[in-house]
Amino acid sequence: MQTPFLPHMLESIKAVEASRAERFETEPRRMDADEKTALLQEFHPDYGDNGFDTIKIGANTGEKAPKELVELLHSKSKISDVNINLDNIEFDVDVLIIGGGAAGASAAIEAHNAGQNVMIVTKLRMGDSNSMMAEGGIQAADKENDSPMQHYLDSFGGGHYKNKPELLRRLVMDGPKSIKWLNELGVMFDKHEDGTMWTFPGGGLSRKRLHACADYTGAEITRVLKDEVQNLGIEIAEFTAALELILDEEGKVAGAVLVNMLTGEYLVARAKTVIMATGGAGRMHYHGFPTTNHYGATADGLVMAYRAGCNLLYQDTIQYHPSGAAFPSQLFGALVTEKVRSIGAQLLNIDGEAFVHPLETRDVAASAIIRECGVREKGIATGQGNGVWLDTPLIEMIHGEGKIESAIPGMLRMFLNYGMDLRKTPILVYPSFHYQNGGVEIENDGNTKHIPNLFIAGEAAGGIHGRNRLLGNSMLDVIVFGRLTGQKAAQMAKSTTTGKLFLNHIKTYEGKINEAGVDTGKLSPILLPKYTRDVNEARVV
Ligand code: FUM
Repeated sequence: MQTPFLPHMLESIKAVEASRAERFETEPRRMDADEKTALLQEFHPDYGDNGFDTIKIGANTGEKAPKELVELLHSKSKISDVNINLDNIEFDVDVLIIGGGAAGASAAIEAHNAGQNVMIVTKLRMGDSNSMMAEGGIQAADKENDSPMQHYLDSFGGGHYKNKPELLRRLVMDGPKSIKWLNELGVMFDKHEDGTMWTFPGGGLSRKRLHACADYTGAEITRVLKDEVQNLGIEIAEFTAALELILDEEGKVAGAVLVNMLTGEYLVARAKTVIMATGGAGRMHYHGFPTTNHYGATADGLVMAYRAGCNLLYQDTIQYHPSGAAFPSQLFGALVTEKVRSIGAQLLNIDGEAFVHPLETRDVAASAIIRECGVREKGIATGQGNGVWLDTPLIEMIHGEGKIESAIPGMLRMFLNYGMDLRKTPILVYPSFHYQNGGVEIENDGNTKHIPNLFIAGEAAGGIHGRNRLLGNSMLDVIVFGRLTGQKAAQMAKSTTTGKLFLNHIKTYEGKINEAGVDTGKLSPILLPKYTRDVNEARVV
């Protein structure tokens, strides 16, 4: 296949090759704390005002949020003008789980095993989620030279000391047993010949703590969890989206209004407890960034919970993964796992210079790339902006031939499809919207502050990661808090009774929209990004 690289890229690759031997000998320098702070303040989108608006109604009134999220929060409900008959109950369960990713599946397994009648509703297929697309791995401090305390300190620093301490404590303490649980369920982690697990380094980690299944860790974990859900006979309604939570007369959550994505039919699900595991918001493309996320990542859970009375935490902080693919255009924004850097690839500018240590935390590495491509004018033009080199051939100089094929086979194939061989030439990357660091604020059991019997798990929850998550802590969070919320919601369902069903909060919220004069004239949650809806207009509500 002819090289896809353009002449100016080939010219720059010569500079990358020329500096490789020297870079092999010397690691790039780490930044000190003051340098990092200055860099973040000047270049990280979270720290500026552009692209943000102020929330004018609800629990977070007066706070800053990405303008696309504010628009969703200032919009009326999709069922605003629909007459929903709440007596016509289609599904009646103990625990309703909204979302079919790894958090939803883990919650379902635990709630089912606690003897409750559980149902998962998911707007796409079971497993279609950011969990499925996670590549690099899952953190857990289960090696002799490591400890949950060390894991805590790394994650607390990475989160700018804003993580809710009790949530972070739970995350790190439950790490080792989560790996054991997954291993026993059948997840095929990378292992040494003696059966012990490989662990890898990562940005902001003081120990090798990342457990991986090559570079498709999320797909492997989600495969196993989905099998388990199916083997246990847990009911799943696919292509069924939640539109609004239902409350009872005491203000407890009591179910959800659903819509069949294929027929447009509205359905009522009554439940004693609800776990919202609806994932992130990458497809909202905050600040105009491309995304690594799946098509369902449209902040639905945040909208539903907020409208029902919950508060958000750190909704203004977004994680841009430093290495989204920047070239070719077909891969624009796609995840190039941090594992590529964790096993040795360096970030280089047009002159082949390493301008940042490859394992700085993600917010720092992303900001350094934005600076290099912006004010420093040292990026490489891609046709869709600029990118920097990720010097992948360095990996095999460090570890020997075969390392790329064995450690990152998914990446190798993804780029080979477009005529680029990671073993021979570097690839171009630029930050891509990867994760919402915040979400609906949760308390210690994964419960919400304001709505009894409502739990949040996975990326929709806010507080665990502070203002910047470390790699591999999301796959751990979906397991730890998925399982925890499943157990707690099941326990709660045993002692709760559901009263008469109401949707009054929707009208109350609309009243506030009108009063504040912020009506966008649009409806939310949007369920799918606009470009998907345009294509599927006839089939999607
Ligand atoms: O780079 C990655 O593979 C992503 C991992 C994560 O977000 O935890």
